[in-house]
Amino acid sequence: MIQYSNIDFPAAVITATAKITSAFHRRGYTKPAAYFVILLLSYYLGYLSAVPKNPSDVRQQHYSATTTVNPPPQAAVDHYQFQTQCATPLPSHLVRQTILTRIFNGTSPYHGFPQPHIKPLLRQKRIKGWGSTGAVFKNLINKVRPTTVIEIGTFLGASAIHMAELTRQLGLDTQILCIDDFRGWPGLPNQFRDIKMINGDTMLLYQFIQNVVQVNATEAILFLPFSTGSTLDRLCEWGVLADLIEVDAGHDFHSAWSDINRAYKLLRPGGVIFGHDYFTVADNRGVRRAVNMFARVNGLRVKADGQHWVLGSL
Ligand SMILES: C[S@@+](CC[C@H](N)C(=O)[O-])C[C@H]1O[C@@H](n2cnc3c(N)ncnc32)[C@H](O)[C@@H]1O
Ligand SMILES: *[C@@H]1O[C@H](CO)[C@@H](O)[C@H](O)[C@H]1NC(C)=O
Ligand SMILES: *[C@@H]1O[C@H](CO)[C@@H](O)[C@H](O)[C@H]1NC(C)=O
Repeated sequence: MIQYSNIDFPAAVITATAKITSAFHRRGYTKPAAYFVILLLSYYLGYLSAVPKNPSDVRQQHYSATTTVNPPPQAAVDHYQFQTQCATPLPSHLVRQTILTRIFNGTSPYHGFPQPHIKPLLRQKRIKGWGSTGAVFKNLINKVRPTTVIEIGTFLGASAIHMAELTRQLGLDTQILCIDDFRGWPGLPNQFRDIKMINGDTMLLYQFIQNVVQVNATEAILFLPFSTGSTLDRLCEWGVLADLIEVDAGHDFHSAWSDINRAYKLLRPGGVIFGHDYFTVADNRGVRRAVNMFARVNGLRVKADGQHWVLGSL
């Protein structure tokens, strides 16, 4: 769509017309040619004044032409209103089977991996993370000794695999649930050229699975390959709660705000929620603003651990 809403159009067109006219004069063209151009521009000007300046006006016109009912008043957005009550908590030993049944039709998603056509596209192990082995992971796992962990934002599994190793060292039987759509972000293939793409489908999920298989962590780690919002709401409905929740998906304010609000109610009593990029500038402070606002609204105090923020009973 042409963006002309920010331009004062008549002034711009008049200036352009004057320039074109004087150019015609300089090049020695006849006056009729110049008048013809002015005539054309006048038509264009008339056309523009008949079309709304702001593209959103155009949309509104379409809506009012096709929509006869106004939206009901309860559609008004309440930014603070997230579902607060989840289903009766599932015992932690039922978490894995519940996910397998409800998401994977009862079959392990590791079964038969890698399919023959996928295998040549993968590297044996390809892990890259950001602050994924920071001290905060060890600090919190030692303190909380979680039986269920939810990770929101997994990428190639660096932090998930680190947590699996830490819980294994402590002899805990911990189930780590990784929520990620495994799309990364638009432009990912230009940055990670060794992660292949087929018909627009990035192999991020398969490379993540390959990494988990490579470190023998398929029992500890289960993945939920969907958007964070819909998945967190489902976990709430199913009563899948966690002792430890890591937030590291979308780093803009709105994503972080939504993820934190949706995740906080999944904490078991005594649980801890934490996340990356409280102190890095990578997110333009979107994460920090979301975390601070969440803490203020809920009367909590934010603790910092390295680059991470931590909220919860410690
Ligand atoms: C910074 S990376 C996670 C890094 C990982 N925690 C680590 O330390 O190695 C962010 C991930 O969030 C995922 N993500 C971002 N927004 C998402 C959304 N709305 N739903 C699902 N996944 C999302 C991306 O696919 C990406 O893999
Ligand atoms: C799910 O499992 C049922 C029973 O095992 C099977 O009949 C069905 O084909 C499966 N659905 C898919 C999508 O694999
Ligand atoms: C995974 O298990 C295999 C076979 O049981 C073993 O050979 C390999 O060393 C293990 N890898 C790791 C990283 O523990």
